[in-house]
Amino acid sequence: MAQLIQIINGPNLNLLGKRQPEIYGHETLEDVASACTTLGETLGLTCAFFQSNHEGGIIDCIHAARETAAGIVINPGAFTHTSVAILDALNTFEGPVFEVHISNVHKRESFRHHSYVSLRADGVIAGFGTEGYTLALRRLGTLLAQ
Ligand code: DQA
Repeated sequence: MAQLIQIINGPNLNLLGKRQPEIYGHETLEDVASACTTLGETLGLTCAFFQSNHEGGIIDCIHAARETAAGIVINPGAFTHTSVAILDALNTFEGPVFEVHISNVHKRESFRHHSYVSLRADGVIAGFGTEGYTLALRRLGTLLAQ
């Protein structure tokens, strides 16, 4: 049976493709979902997508994933740099967690250099554009097949 991967996107990522395309590119979140679904099929993974501009919604999604998902891919957006609550929620999840940033946060403002989520993440991908999501998925495919 296919294993479920919960893909979570935080604030402002609903505007992907329209928002600062010079930083985040022209692909939309729907394009990302479609690429992940297609790749997931080849890896035996089913992808569930969630996006919220609200911290509590993301936390509720992580709690639900405890019961349903084998792994999490999360781009917490700006909550990356501020949210102990999302870190705490991720610490309740037992499977692998991968943190994705479309841009290279380390090349940007210093407030983007620190990530609370990295204290939990099993791997971090930054600066690979929207391809970062499928790279994370490939790694989950490898880990979950073991
Ligand atoms: C981001 C980087 C964050 O610093 C920013 O707040 C975002 C997107 C990225 O994907 O590069 O919203 O997580």
